[in-house]
Amino acid sequence: MQQTHSGARGHNVVVVGTQWGDEGKGKVVDWLTDHAQAVVRFQGGHNAGHTLVIKGVKTALQLIPSGIMRDGVACFIGNGVVVDPTHVLAEITRLEGIGLDVRSRLRISESCPLILPFHVAVDHAREALRETSGAGKIGTTGKGIGPAYEDKVARRALRVQDLKHPERFARKLRELLDLHNVALGGYLRAKPLDYQPIYDAAMALAEQLRPMMADVGYELYKINRAGGNILFEGAQGSLLDIDHGTYPYVTSSNCVAGNAAAGSGVGPDQLHYVLGITKAYTTRVGSGPFPSELPMDEPGSVGHHLSTVGQERGTVTGRPRRCGWLDAAALKRATVINGVSGLCITKLDVLDGLPEIQVCVGYELDGRRVDILPLDADEILACRPVYDSFPGWSESTFGATRWDDLPLNARRYLERVQQFIGAPIDMVSTGPDREHTILLRHPYQA
Ligand code: IMP
Repeated sequence: MQQTHSGARGHNVVVVGTQWGDEGKGKVVDWLTDHAQAVVRFQGGHNAGHTLVIKGVKTALQLIPSGIMRDGVACFIGNGVVVDPTHVLAEITRLEGIGLDVRSRLRISESCPLILPFHVAVDHAREALRETSGAGKIGTTGKGIGPAYEDKVARRALRVQDLKHPERFARKLRELLDLHNVALGGYLRAKPLDYQPIYDAAMALAEQLRPMMADVGYELYKINRAGGNILFEGAQGSLLDIDHGTYPYVTSSNCVAGNAAAGSGVGPDQLHYVLGITKAYTTRVGSGPFPSELPMDEPGSVGHHLSTVGQERGTVTGRPRRCGWLDAAALKRATVINGVSGLCITKLDVLDGLPEIQVCVGYELDGRRVDILPLDADEILACRPVYDSFPGWSESTFGATRWDDLPLNARRYLERVQQFIGAPIDMVSTGPDREHTILLRHPYQA
């Protein structure tokens, strides 16, 4: 239990991805929710995709916090998240369809910027233009995330609170749509959108959203004051962070742990422990540099193994993910920018049966040795990975629940990673189900 200057008594944990997303955060968040009274999303939007497996049943979540799968846990969407009103209601309805009570447990910050249809149109048109102009696509999820964040920063966004005021909403919508239509009909070479259907659709949803609108920062403050624990659920991954990632091949929000505070309205002294989720190898969807990437096409190759055994396809877009060895030098960057307290290694079982395991421990760049991922995407592209090699293991690690049950070579591999990164491995996830977890140090008791 923590007592801080603000008088809060809860213990709060931040969960972030340390790679390019898809590290398996959803499962870990769900597991930790056992110890939390509230789960909060603080950045991103429905570009995220979290697949949870509970007693063998799969559920995919995009915007709604993974805490929704545990009865009685309060779920919050913080101000740092961009919200597509059509999507959020569709996701709520889908979860209600499997018997979950969502509306009484979900609260959405009034300050969240809205994603509206013209953001999606701009996102698609920009990607198409980048491709035809030879600039190369970013490979976005096409959900309008970037354009919605642009409007927020330009101080012209429509926000969730505007849905409560139809006249204000109408005026702001007209101005914003005019602006985007000029771009769409002009240099983006796409079809401008009509005002009325956008207005009507938003207003039709407004009444449903209204009871869920809240002052999220203050709600969280009260939960902490009452001794409740909060879990902050990061989306995407640190290397997709708008400032610290492989710019411009990034998403448009800060994915790092520090944004858990600004993106939900709590003070930074309320972030007590940062759990970095790390897949035992590396994947990436979309474009951008990836030094330890492996070719995946040839059956029998390591890349093919990781892709097929790991079932590496995007939850949101269905695109195949690019695969490669664990990049510990990139992980070092993530550890630095997040202030990682401990790591959780996921999908270790995907490495079972490989005769040799490699870990990228640095790069050769212009004749020098570099031990941390550079900041410039062009420099990263020029990096040649330097690998440490380990003997693999033939035993199955799937579903292991104790460290001592792991094969000796698997433990050696993990110990080397931990030593290189300088952060302890506190958890290992050995399968998709809640039970498939090795706990070394509990983030809520650290
Ligand atoms: P956007 O977030 O849709 O703008 O996409 C920007 C980049 O982030 C693209 O490379 C996407 O593939 C990537 N991205 C966005 N969300 C996720 C995610 O949840 N997992 C993995 N990659 C993501």
